[in-house]
Amino acid sequence: MTIDGPSGSGKGTVAARVTQALGWHILDSGALYRLVGLAAQRAGVDLCDTTAVAETARTLTAKFVDGKIFLDGEDVSLAIRTETAGNNASKVAAIPEVRSALLDWQRNYARLPGLVADGRDMGTVVFPDAGVKIFLDASADERARRRYKQLKDKGIDVNLLGLIAEIEERDHRDRNRSVAPLVPAQDAQIIDSTQLDVDTVVDRVLQAVYEAYPEAGLKNGI
Ligand code: DC
Repeated sequence: MTIDGPSGSGKGTVAARVTQALGWHILDSGALYRLVGLAAQRAGVDLCDTTAVAETARTLTAKFVDGKIFLDGEDVSLAIRTETAGNNASKVAAIPEVRSALLDWQRNYARLPGLVADGRDMGTVVFPDAGVKIFLDASADERARRRYKQLKDKGIDVNLLGLIAEIEERDHRDRNRSVAPLVPAQDAQIIDSTQLDVDTVVDRVLQAVYEAYPEAGLKNGI
Protein backbone atom coordinates (compact mmCIF):
# COMPACT_ATOMS: atom_id res chain seq x y z
CA MET A 1 0.00 0.00 0.00
CA THR A 2 1.11 3.56 -0.61
CA ILE A 3 0.79 6.79 1.37
CA ASP A 4 1.64 9.98 -0.49
CA GLY A 5 1.26 13.59 0.53
CA PRO A 6 3.01 16.91 1.14
CA SER A 7 5.56 17.52 3.89
CA GLY A 8 4.08 17.76 7.35
CA SER A 9 0.85 15.98 6.43
CA GLY A 10 1.64 13.32 9.02
CA LYS A 11 2.55 10.63 6.47
CA GLY A 12 5.60 9.44 8.39
CA THR A 13 3.75 8.99 11.68
CA VAL A 14 0.74 7.36 10.03
CA ALA A 15 2.92 5.06 7.88
CA ALA A 16 4.87 3.91 10.97
CA ARG A 17 1.68 3.22 12.96
CA VAL A 18 -0.01 1.38 10.08
CA THR A 19 3.15 -0.68 9.46
CA GLN A 20 3.24 -1.70 13.09
CA ALA A 21 -0.46 -2.61 13.20
CA LEU A 22 -0.16 -4.78 10.07
CA GLY A 23 3.26 -6.30 10.80
CA TRP A 24 4.34 -5.22 7.30
CA HIS A 25 7.56 -3.57 6.06
CA ILE A 26 8.02 0.17 5.55
CA LEU A 27 9.72 2.21 2.85
CA ASP A 28 10.44 5.84 3.76
CA SER A 29 11.28 7.04 0.26
CA GLY A 30 11.86 10.64 1.41
CA ALA A 31 14.87 9.36 3.38
CA LEU A 32 16.48 8.31 0.09
CA TYR A 33 16.20 11.81 -1.38
CA ARG A 34 17.44 13.26 1.91
CA LEU A 35 20.44 10.87 1.73
CA VAL A 36 21.26 11.96 -1.82
CA GLY A 37 21.14 15.62 -0.74
CA LEU A 38 23.36 14.96 2.27
CA ALA A 39 25.85 12.81 0.34
CA ALA A 40 26.12 15.47 -2.38
CA GLN A 41 26.58 18.24 0.16
CA ARG A 42 29.28 16.27 2.00
CA ALA A 43 31.10 15.55 -1.26
CA GLY A 44 31.10 19.29 -2.03
CA VAL A 45 28.78 18.80 -5.01
CA ASP A 46 26.79 21.86 -6.08
CA LEU A 47 23.09 20.85 -5.95
CA CYS A 48 22.55 22.70 -9.24
CA ASP A 49 25.09 20.42 -10.95
CA THR A 50 22.52 17.85 -12.06
CA THR A 51 25.09 15.45 -13.61
CA ALA A 52 27.16 15.27 -10.42
CA VAL A 53 24.07 14.94 -8.18
CA ALA A 54 22.73 12.13 -10.39
CA GLU A 55 26.09 10.34 -10.08
CA THR A 56 25.84 10.71 -6.29
CA ALA A 57 22.42 9.03 -6.43
CA ARG A 58 23.70 6.19 -8.63
CA THR A 59 26.66 5.47 -6.30
CA LEU A 60 24.84 5.97 -2.99
CA THR A 61 26.03 3.52 -0.32
CA ALA A 62 23.24 3.75 2.21
CA LYS A 63 21.98 1.06 4.58
CA PHE A 64 18.78 0.83 6.61
CA VAL A 65 19.40 -1.24 9.77
CA ASP A 66 17.01 -1.59 12.76
CA GLY A 67 15.31 1.74 12.09
CA LYS A 68 18.64 3.56 11.68
CA ILE A 69 20.05 4.97 8.45
CA PHE A 70 23.74 4.74 7.58
CA LEU A 71 25.64 6.65 4.90
CA ASP A 72 29.13 5.32 4.16
CA GLY A 73 28.98 3.49 7.50
CA GLU A 74 28.02 6.60 9.54
CA ASP A 75 24.68 6.83 11.36
CA VAL A 76 22.96 9.84 9.74
CA SER A 77 19.43 9.14 11.06
CA LEU A 78 19.29 12.57 12.73
CA ALA A 79 21.41 14.51 10.22
CA ILE A 80 18.92 13.83 7.41
CA ARG A 81 15.94 15.13 9.44
CA THR A 82 16.85 18.84 9.55
CA GLU A 83 14.87 21.46 7.60
CA THR A 84 17.94 22.11 5.44
CA ALA A 85 18.19 18.40 4.60
CA GLY A 86 14.47 18.41 3.68
CA ASN A 87 14.91 21.39 1.38
CA ASN A 88 18.00 19.90 -0.24
CA ALA A 89 16.08 16.64 -0.71
CA SER A 90 13.31 18.51 -2.48
CA LYS A 91 15.89 20.14 -4.80
CA VAL A 92 17.66 16.90 -5.77
CA ALA A 93 14.28 15.15 -6.13
CA ALA A 94 13.43 17.47 -9.04
CA ILE A 95 16.32 16.00 -11.11
CA PRO A 96 14.90 13.25 -13.41
CA GLU A 97 18.15 11.18 -13.38
CA VAL A 98 18.12 11.15 -9.59
CA ARG A 99 14.57 9.78 -9.58
CA SER A 100 15.39 7.07 -12.12
CA ALA A 101 18.52 6.08 -10.18
CA LEU A 102 16.35 5.42 -7.10
CA LEU A 103 13.46 3.70 -8.87
CA ASP A 104 14.70 0.08 -8.86
CA TRP A 105 16.04 0.45 -5.35
CA GLN A 106 12.52 1.39 -4.18
CA ARG A 107 10.73 -1.30 -6.19
CA ASN A 108 13.10 -3.97 -4.89
CA TYR A 109 11.99 -3.04 -1.41
CA ALA A 110 8.57 -4.65 -1.96
CA ARG A 111 8.38 -7.80 0.14
CA LEU A 112 5.98 -10.11 1.94
CA PRO A 113 3.76 -9.95 3.87
CA GLY A 114 3.35 -6.40 2.52
CA LEU A 115 4.90 -2.97 2.19
CA VAL A 116 3.77 0.46 3.37
CA ALA A 117 5.50 2.90 1.00
CA ASP A 118 5.51 6.55 2.06
CA GLY A 119 6.46 9.45 -0.24
CA ARG A 120 5.27 11.73 -3.02
CA ASP A 121 5.02 9.42 -6.05
CA MET A 122 4.53 6.00 -4.48
CA GLY A 123 1.03 5.50 -5.89
CA THR A 124 1.60 7.31 -9.20
CA VAL A 125 5.06 6.14 -10.35
CA VAL A 126 6.85 3.67 -8.11
CA PHE A 127 3.98 1.30 -7.21
CA PRO A 128 1.17 2.11 -9.68
CA ASP A 129 -0.42 -1.33 -9.06
CA ALA A 130 -0.66 -0.98 -5.27
CA GLY A 131 -3.93 -2.36 -3.91
CA VAL A 132 -4.48 0.59 -1.55
CA LYS A 133 -3.41 4.17 -2.23
CA ILE A 134 -3.82 6.97 0.28
CA PHE A 135 -3.17 10.64 -0.35
CA LEU A 136 -2.81 12.40 2.99
CA ASP A 137 -3.24 16.15 2.91
CA ALA A 138 -3.60 19.04 5.38
CA SER A 139 -3.60 22.83 5.03
CA ALA A 140 -0.16 24.47 4.78
CA ASP A 141 -0.77 26.42 8.02
CA GLU A 142 -1.68 23.28 9.94
CA ARG A 143 1.34 21.42 8.57
CA ALA A 144 3.64 24.27 9.57
CA ARG A 145 2.07 24.37 13.07
CA ARG A 146 2.66 20.62 13.52
CA ARG A 147 6.26 20.92 12.37
CA TYR A 148 6.76 23.94 14.65
CA LYS A 149 5.50 21.96 17.65
CA GLN A 150 7.71 18.96 16.75
CA LEU A 151 10.81 21.16 16.56
CA LYS A 152 9.93 23.07 19.75
CA ASP A 153 9.45 19.77 21.58
CA LYS A 154 12.95 18.81 20.48
CA GLY A 155 14.26 22.10 21.93
CA ILE A 156 14.95 23.57 18.48
CA ASP A 157 14.12 27.27 18.18
CA VAL A 158 12.19 28.12 15.02
CA ASN A 159 10.16 30.94 13.57
CA LEU A 160 6.59 29.94 12.62
CA LEU A 161 6.27 32.40 9.73
CA GLY A 162 9.64 31.28 8.33
CA LEU A 163 8.48 27.67 8.60
CA ILE A 164 5.22 28.41 6.72
CA ALA A 165 7.22 30.11 3.96
CA GLU A 166 9.63 27.13 3.73
CA ILE A 167 6.79 24.60 3.61
CA GLU A 168 5.05 26.57 0.87
CA GLU A 169 8.28 26.81 -1.15
CA ARG A 170 8.90 23.06 -0.81
CA ASP A 171 5.26 22.28 -1.74
CA HIS A 172 5.50 24.47 -4.79
CA ARG A 173 8.69 22.71 -5.97
CA ASP A 174 7.33 19.20 -5.24
CA ARG A 175 3.97 19.86 -6.93
CA ASN A 176 5.30 21.62 -10.03
CA ARG A 177 8.38 19.65 -11.06
CA SER A 178 8.35 18.02 -14.47
CA VAL A 179 8.88 14.43 -13.28
CA ALA A 180 6.72 12.62 -10.76
CA PRO A 181 5.12 15.74 -9.28
CA LEU A 182 3.16 15.45 -6.07
CA VAL A 183 -0.40 14.64 -7.18
CA PRO A 184 -2.90 12.09 -5.88
CA ALA A 185 -3.07 8.92 -7.99
CA GLN A 186 -6.39 8.70 -9.82
CA ASP A 187 -7.38 5.73 -7.67
CA ALA A 188 -6.13 7.21 -4.38
CA GLN A 189 -8.34 7.75 -1.38
CA ILE A 190 -7.78 11.35 -0.24
CA ILE A 191 -7.76 12.03 3.49
CA ASP A 192 -7.60 15.64 4.65
CA SER A 193 -6.13 15.47 8.14
CA THR A 194 -6.36 19.22 8.92
CA GLN A 195 -9.11 18.59 11.49
CA LEU A 196 -8.33 14.94 12.31
CA ASP A 197 -6.15 13.44 15.01
CA VAL A 198 -3.57 10.75 14.20
CA ASP A 199 -5.66 7.89 15.67
CA THR A 200 -8.58 8.72 13.37
CA VAL A 201 -6.35 8.86 10.29
CA VAL A 202 -4.65 5.56 11.20
CA ASP A 203 -8.09 3.90 11.68
CA ARG A 204 -9.27 5.10 8.27
CA VAL A 205 -6.12 3.88 6.54
CA LEU A 206 -6.31 0.48 8.27
CA GLN A 207 -9.97 0.19 7.30
CA ALA A 208 -9.01 0.72 3.64
CA VAL A 209 -6.29 -1.94 3.93
CA TYR A 210 -8.60 -4.49 5.56
CA GLU A 211 -11.18 -3.94 2.82
CA ALA A 212 -8.58 -4.58 0.11
CA TYR A 213 -6.67 -7.30 1.98
CA PRO A 214 -9.12 -9.13 4.31
CA GLU A 215 -6.32 -11.53 5.34
CA ALA A 216 -4.42 -8.59 6.89
CA GLY A 217 -7.50 -7.87 9.01
CA LEU A 218 -7.90 -11.51 10.01
CA LYS A 219 -4.31 -11.58 11.20
CA ASN A 220 -5.10 -8.59 13.37
CA GLY A 221 -8.32 -10.09 14.70
CA ILE A 222 -10.73 -7.97 12.63
O1 DC B 1 8.94 13.01 2.96
P1 DC B 1 10.17 13.85 3.18
O2 DC B 1 9.85 15.21 3.79
O3 DC B 1 11.24 13.12 3.95
O4 DC B 1 10.77 14.13 1.71
C1 DC B 1 11.82 15.03 1.49
C2 DC B 1 11.77 15.53 0.06
O5 DC B 1 12.07 14.46 -0.85
C3 DC B 1 10.44 16.09 -0.40
O6 DC B 1 10.36 17.50 -0.24
C4 DC B 1 10.35 15.72 -1.86
C5 DC B 1 11.27 14.54 -2.00
N1 DC B 1 10.57 13.26 -2.21
C6 DC B 1 10.18 12.96 -3.50
O7 DC B 1 10.37 13.77 -4.40
N2 DC B 1 9.60 11.75 -3.77
C7 DC B 1 9.38 10.87 -2.78
N3 DC B 1 8.81 9.71 -3.09
C8 DC B 1 9.74 11.19 -1.45
C9 DC B 1 10.33 12.41 -1.20
